[in-house]
Amino acid sequence: MSALDALRRPRARPTLPENGGPGSRLLEVSGLTTRFDTPDGVVHAVNGVDFHVDRAEVVGVVGESGCGKSVTIRSILGLVRPPGRVVDGTVRFDGVDLLGLRRTELRRLRGKEIGFIAQNPFSALNPVMRIHRQFGTILAAHGAKSDGEVRDRARAALADVGIAGPDRVLDGYAHQLSGGMAQRVVIAMAMLLNPAFVIADEPTTGLDLTVQRQILDLIRGLVREHGRSMLLVTHDLGVVAQYCDRVVVMYAGKVIEHGTVREVLNTPRHPYTQALVRAIPRPGRPLVHLTGRLPDLVDYPTGCPFRARCPHAFEPCGHVVPEAVTVASGQTYWCHLPEERPEEREAVR
Ligand SMILES: Nc1ncnc2c1ncn2[C@@H]1O[C@H](COP(=O)(O)OP(=O)(O)OP(=O)(O)O)[C@@H](O)[C@H]1O
Ligand SMILES: [Mg+2]
Repeated sequence: MSALDALRRPRARPTLPENGGPGSRLLEVSGLTTRFDTPDGVVHAVNGVDFHVDRAEVVGVVGESGCGKSVTIRSILGLVRPPGRVVDGTVRFDGVDLLGLRRTELRRLRGKEIGFIAQNPFSALNPVMRIHRQFGTILAAHGAKSDGEVRDRARAALADVGIAGPDRVLDGYAHQLSGGMAQRVVIAMAMLLNPAFVIADEPTTGLDLTVQRQILDLIRGLVREHGRSMLLVTHDLGVVAQYCDRVVVMYAGKVIEHGTVREVLNTPRHPYTQALVRAIPRPGRPLVHLTGRLPDLVDYPTGCPFRARCPHAFEPCGHVVPEAVTVASGQTYWCHLPEERPEEREAVR
């Protein structure tokens, strides 16, 4: 059984809208570079990140803790605050250069064009404002005229995320909600203005396993049903296999491999991706965990950032940054290991 088959549960094919232009480019990130100036030095959090998301596509972003997933997303959304700064790159969303927008323009775009579901719902909700007023704040900025209209639209949004008895939720505060309910409310808010694109940054952290699946099923349902696109950040390759079309693998603030989920999980090409795939629990096979840690992002290594943990590192890895290698199918990886040593790439299967 392949890694992919081991992870994937049967699922229905998505229904795509006929006129939504599925397949055309929606988000294009190139050369994105973000630094943090700290007393210990400059943190190289995001280092020339390139990837894209097409319409009606769900793209996963994976990589271990601290590899720059959240900073990448915050950079795209214009949410990096000092001491952080985006120092280079372009982010084009539906033809618009997001990095060139003013803060107010970006704020309008977030919510209306891009729905954001953050890691911790309680940090996304205001603890001292009734939920109803929080819906009102979002809707007022987008033309809602009356309290009644806010309540009607909020009720409908809460019904969409499976909340029965929405009035009780609307009249209460965030702390009265369970983690799963709070995340449903945040999802309802993210979808409220019917955005074409949803970004979810580890939306199920801290929830128990059953609720995690319910929330992910819910998000995927809302995304697929409306032909939306999504960027889904997760630690879990099982979630990628189950919910995503393509995957972007990050390491030390760089993309080190991307491709369709099928290709990347069945034939991972970068030794880091191979290590992640080996760490997927599978019947009859021992778990193999990657040892070592991410490099110091202040004293960023020369050459390949993965080389200190790489079983195949050889001479050029220490001083030459690998260039992108794209195979015919479009799967792309950044590694010096020559294709003529395929046994090393095959070892994972
Ligand atoms: N405000 C900040 N000041 C300094 N460094 C920061 C700041 N925010 C993030 N970083 C650094 O940027 C790097 C990338 O962090 P990021 O939060 O993007 O990781 P991540 O991949 O999202 O990790 P996780 O899976 O744990 O959420 C880390 O080394 C982190 O310490
Ligand atoms: Mg994060």
